[in-house]
Amino acid sequence: MQEQRRKAAACAAFIRRRIKKTPEIGVLTGTGLGDAAAALAQEANFPYDLLPHFPVSTVQSHAGRLLFGEMAGKPTAVLQGRIHLYEGYGPKEVTFPVRVLQELGVGTLLVTNAAGGINPGFTPGQIMLLADHLNLTGENPLAGANEDQWGPRFPDMSAAYDPALARLAEAAAALRGLRLQKGVYAGLKGPSLETPAEVRFLRSAGADAVGFSTVQEVIAAVHGGIRVLGLSIITNVHDPDNPEPASVEEIIEVAAAAAKDLSKVLAGVVEKLGEESV
Ligand code: HPA
Repeated sequence: MQEQRRKAAACAAFIRRRIKKTPEIGVLTGTGLGDAAAALAQEANFPYDLLPHFPVSTVQSHAGRLLFGEMAGKPTAVLQGRIHLYEGYGPKEVTFPVRVLQELGVGTLLVTNAAGGINPGFTPGQIMLLADHLNLTGENPLAGANEDQWGPRFPDMSAAYDPALARLAEAAAALRGLRLQKGVYAGLKGPSLETPAEVRFLRSAGADAVGFSTVQEVIAAVHGGIRVLGLSIITNVHDPDNPEPASVEEIIEVAAAAAKDLSKVLAGVVEKLGEESV
């Protein structure tokens, strides 16, 4: 057994001794989106720094807690706050929380993030359903020897974002009067924001949104056979012909304002999980 798996298994064992029901669903929340877990009836709560081997997020807008409880009556784990490559962590550390969820038996992962709009048709505050991603980080959590117990050497990525889960999200949003955008998320390492030339490049590469997270975790989840749904809050929209400074305070504010809508979509998806037609 490799080091990362031994550590993830130890962390999962620590958690299992302290929770009543093992989770079936995982929710991973990003910048300013801690409240997206509002629909969780919380039963247990672990700050990341109290969990064995768990990397600790250094970003202020990320709470850094792992919550357990029920969402729509289903046992759910919420990773409130994530670890980023730009903090200096490696891809194995960034994906450690997902591996702990995998070791706990989670089969469905709902991933959220804040993202910059690349598609000029987007407006701040909108929610984008991830149809696909571009991993432009230059990193991959599966590099190195494969952990065969976790998944295959060359995992298929032709449907990384589960189409049935995407349909559930669209239905859940429509039921609540929300319209989702749909598009491709480009994952960069960051932390420097995009230059106008990079925005043009991303547009021509087929990206609709850009951010500094998600792609590593999704690759690990898909490798582990976990079904993935991805939702981005579009916090700002880039215009390379009239570039304006993006303010991190504004990004966090827009994300926090949209968290309620996002929380409703997440709860709607969890409620219908298990009923979807694949
Ligand atoms: N770029 C990268 N990440 C982001 C952005 C952005 O413009 N907005 C929110 N997260």
